[in-house]
Amino acid sequence: MLVSLKHILEKAHRGHYAVGAFNINNLETLQAVMAAAEEEQSPVIVQTSEGAIQYAGMEEIGALVHLAARKTKLPVVFHLDHGKNYDLVVEAIQSGLYTSVMFDGSSLPYAENIAATKRIVKMAHAKKISVEAELGAIAGIEDFVSVEERDAHFTDPQEAVEFVRKTGCDALAVAIGTSHGPFKFKGESRLDFARLKKIREAVGVPLVLHGASGVPTNIKKLCTKFGCEIAAAKGVSDSSIKKAVSLGINKVNVDTDLRIAFDAGIRKFLHDRPEVIDPREILKPAVALMTKVIRQKMKLLGCSGKG
Ligand code: G3H
Ligand code: 13P
Ligand code: ZN
Repeated sequence: MLVSLKHILEKAHRGHYAVGAFNINNLETLQAVMAAAEEEQSPVIVQTSEGAIQYAGMEEIGALVHLAARKTKLPVVFHLDHGKNYDLVVEAIQSGLYTSVMFDGSSLPYAENIAATKRIVKMAHAKKISVEAELGAIAGIEDFVSVEERDAHFTDPQEAVEFVRKTGCDALAVAIGTSHGPFKFKGESRLDFARLKKIREAVGVPLVLHGASGVPTNIKKLCTKFGCEIAAAKGVSDSSIKKAVSLGINKVNVDTDLRIAFDAGIRKFLHDRPEVIDPREILKPAVALMTKVIRQKMKLLGCSGKG
């Protein structure tokens, strides 16, 4: 059953848990997400980036998600992730496929981000579509040499209040030290929890954590054993995710962990069974591994059994 982001995040907000938002580019990743949701009886957010749309086609990937959502009783959100291209966000809203869009104006000057987000919100709300917006730059704590520099890039709590009030967005992505991709930290996983606490106390809408992959050790080991060169990869620890959820994060974005699991599954299978050329056989372990990773994430976020 397709629902809006607002619907499931308000429930998560009241219940003090977070819902996983998983990036998909193909049928196999969608199969893994839906299998995990079914096994965990969890609500789920299926999201496609601009790159996913370029790769698979908006209508094509949208049709797959709609079919999957029709076959389950669980609440499913179909969300556009990081819509930076204004026209593409408008196209997604008008397509009748998405129940939620993210307009990512984080690279725009503050006033322009507000103005563009506000226009998107008006357009989306007229069609009962939710809007996630972003304020601050999603970047790692180690990307900044000084606290002053960090302050200038991370989400400012007072600015966030004004931003949400002026734009009318339904959810806000915050910058507190996570970053996209497998290489998030050189040392231990560190987030600006004091800032998150202040944002949560000041802002009323559900908050979103991007760059939340954990790079699970066992999956990374499997991947590197069979040739993938990501030995230095380090994600957000499970304890940090738990703490972020306890401090009010209600949507947690995960892509990298699925990529690593997909990669590990394929590499191992091709190594063990070099005689197989059937893509259905080759991709099966990748789907199984992604399903396992997604189930673990759902348990961690507390959305298992909430579907
Ligand atoms: O936020 C980034 C997501 O991991 C999507 O990545 O733009 O390569 O599809 P992508
Ligand atoms: P990861 O790279 O940590 O999986 O983050 C994904 C994300 O934030 C998608 O918007
Ligand atoms: Zn992101």
